[in-house]
Amino acid sequence: MSKYFFIICLTFIFSNQVIADSSYDRGKEKSVTCSACHGGDGNSENKLYPRLAGQYKNYLIHSLNAYKSGERQNAIMSGFAAGLSEQDIIDLSTYYSKQKGLKIIPKN
Ligand code: HEC
Repeated sequence: MSKYFFIICLTFIFSNQVIADSSYDRGKEKSVTCSACHGGDGNSENKLYPRLAGQYKNYLIHSLNAYKSGERQNAIMSGFAAGLSEQDIIDLSTYYSKQKGLKIIPKN
């Protein structure tokens, strides 16, 4: 009985680690670079920088790939997207799409 209990405990410990190492968590870590302009949770306070919070994940993936390939041209974003791997793009898009998008328009 106690042997099974031990195994069940181990299963929970390991499954929690898998959850902690999710695309969302990796995206959150990687978003530190982006937060200076887009805000910590993707709700930028400056009109110059689009809000990413709550945006469709597919749209974010598409946009980042477009900057990376040059299909979408922007001096700032082309530079940032160039350094992102396919996995980085998925992780960042997962993170931002799961944030609550604020609807209040920034004043500046
Ligand atoms: C120095 C400021 C700056 C940083 C840092 C930055 N961005 Fe941007 N980002 C911008 C600007 C400006 C735009 C609007 C560009 C345009 O008009 O296409 C933009 C646009 C975007 C868009 C398209 C949004 C839309 O609505 O179409 C995405 C997605 C994006 N950024 C993701 C990121 C990610 C992910 C990072 C971090 C790896 C990042 N950005 C870092 C300034 C920045």
